[in-house]
Amino acid sequence: MNRRQKILAGIGAAGFIGIGLFLALAIKPAIAPVARPDVALSPALVAQGERIVALGDCVVCHTAPGGRAYAGGLPLKTPFGTLYTTNITPDRGTGIGEWSFEAFRRAMRQGVSRDGHLLYPAFPYIHYTKVTDEDLRAAYAFLMTRTPVHAPARRNELPLPLRFRPSLAFWNLLYLREGPEPATGDAPAERGRYLVEGLGHCSSCHTPLGVIGGEKHRESMQGGVVDDWSAPALDQLAAAPQPWTAGQIVDYLRTGLASEHGAAAGPMRPVTENLGRVPREDVQAIAAYLLTLQKPLRTVEPPAPPGDQDQRIDRGRQVFAGACAECHGEGSPMRGAMGRPALAMSSAVFGPSPRNAVMTIREGLAWPSQPGSTTYMPPFADVLNDRQIADVVAYLRSTAPHAAPWSGLDEQVAHLRENRP
Ligand code: HEC
Ligand code: HEC
Ligand code: HEC
Repeated sequence: MNRRQKILAGIGAAGFIGIGLFLALAIKPAIAPVARPDVALSPALVAQGERIVALGDCVVCHTAPGGRAYAGGLPLKTPFGTLYTTNITPDRGTGIGEWSFEAFRRAMRQGVSRDGHLLYPAFPYIHYTKVTDEDLRAAYAFLMTRTPVHAPARRNELPLPLRFRPSLAFWNLLYLREGPEPATGDAPAERGRYLVEGLGHCSSCHTPLGVIGGEKHRESMQGGVVDDWSAPALDQLAAAPQPWTAGQIVDYLRTGLASEHGAAAGPMRPVTENLGRVPREDVQAIAAYLLTLQKPLRTVEPPAPPGDQDQRIDRGRQVFAGACAECHGEGSPMRGAMGRPALAMSSAVFGPSPRNAVMTIREGLAWPSQPGSTTYMPPFADVLNDRQIADVVAYLRSTAPHAAPWSGLDEQVAHLRENRP
């Protein structure tokens, strides 16, 4: 072999190994269908599964608006296109009725469907991979005892390169660390870590994402953006003007409302509705773990306030008096008899981004499903114009202690309006 042939042979061999490696990662065998679930579906296991599935928010993504529970079809908008969740009821043709436990476990641990195709990471398997076999078996038992619904998968609207699922193998190489990662020991915070990192997949919203949609691990829990809402940093709860106590975190997570703090709106609301269905000790464990993550306040350089800041705050004060004070004003029943805090104590007002204040004002807060709750706010999207919304938000911001004015408020308000249907 001369020199050139040697180089060519080397490149050929490397290419071969590369393709081989890729095929090994991307091509997964199908797992044979089963005639009936291959786990004994005892009532105790099904009850345990109900808890696991609630902790994992499965129903939130796997149910379309107005559709049957777990039958899929919810559109998930990603920066790359829209994809639809699939049917995880035990229907034999269109759901997971023919799935063995092994096929279910592989989907949860590796993001692979029963027939071997790779699943998009909008399905948070990089978190569910940490869940123990015992808990996965319970979730399987629960799902296999739901009513089967015939609901074929909807076609995803993705650009061509992303429709080629084998390329997900590279994503998995970067982001998938296969579990399980059970709690080590009985300490509540350790159980909390297991629930937050695994089933709860909290960081999938509360961590900023990189360019290809993976979580930035170095900024874990430092806050992210989801569906135009900002999911606040969860390592700054102790640094808030009104530091969160464990009890307040538990109340917030179980009821969507905590004393001295805001209410859960946007994508956090269904999370709290699910956590309201699990035993209190699970949520106490989550709170105990969150409190171990606390860091000193990260400050950002305040931008120069816009030129007409004072007039803007005056206009905003007037909007507030006319449209908001009956509920949020100092002398209102909500503040008095119901003991709700001033809006300045909410992360929507003192936090680093005006998103949640603008979104809450535009969309309001629907009556929650918990009985007896009084958390309701009408939507103002059709009542206030962009300038009025920006003005009232600037006014609210001026009432928060040590918070510099937000810059680019008008652009943000216009953007959040254009982005919504
Ligand atoms: C954040 C949204 C989201 C949540 C929460 C979620 N899923 Fe999914 N899931 C998806 C999406 C999207 C797909 C489809 C992915 C694809 O087609 O590539 C999917 C697919 C699946 C599949 C594969 C189905 C098939 O036919 O290939 C299973 C099984 C599954 N999910 C189970 C669960 C379980 C169990 C839970 C709760 C522990 C859960 N999912 C929670 C978004 C979610
Ligand atoms: C009918 C009563 C009502 C009116 C009117 C109302 N709100 Fe609310 N608003 C609520 C309730 C209830 C909450 C949930 C927070 C709570 O209970 O403390 C809330 C929450 C908010 C939040 C989010 C704070 C948080 O809890 O995270 C903002 C921001 C807000 N309101 C702004 C406004 C503005 C601005 C107006 C006027 C344009 C307004 N609201 C009018 C009842 C109302
Ligand atoms: C689907 C996305 C999503 C998931 C999953 C999620 N969150 Fe959130 N979370 C949000 C958003 C958005 C907000 C802001 C809601 C608001 O201000 O009304 C929020 C707010 C919060 C807050 C209040 C923070 C503050 O400063 O006001 C806490 C605490 C919290 N989440 C904890 C959790 C925990 C614990 C989990 C996992 C069990 C979790 N979240 C999972 C999106 C999510």
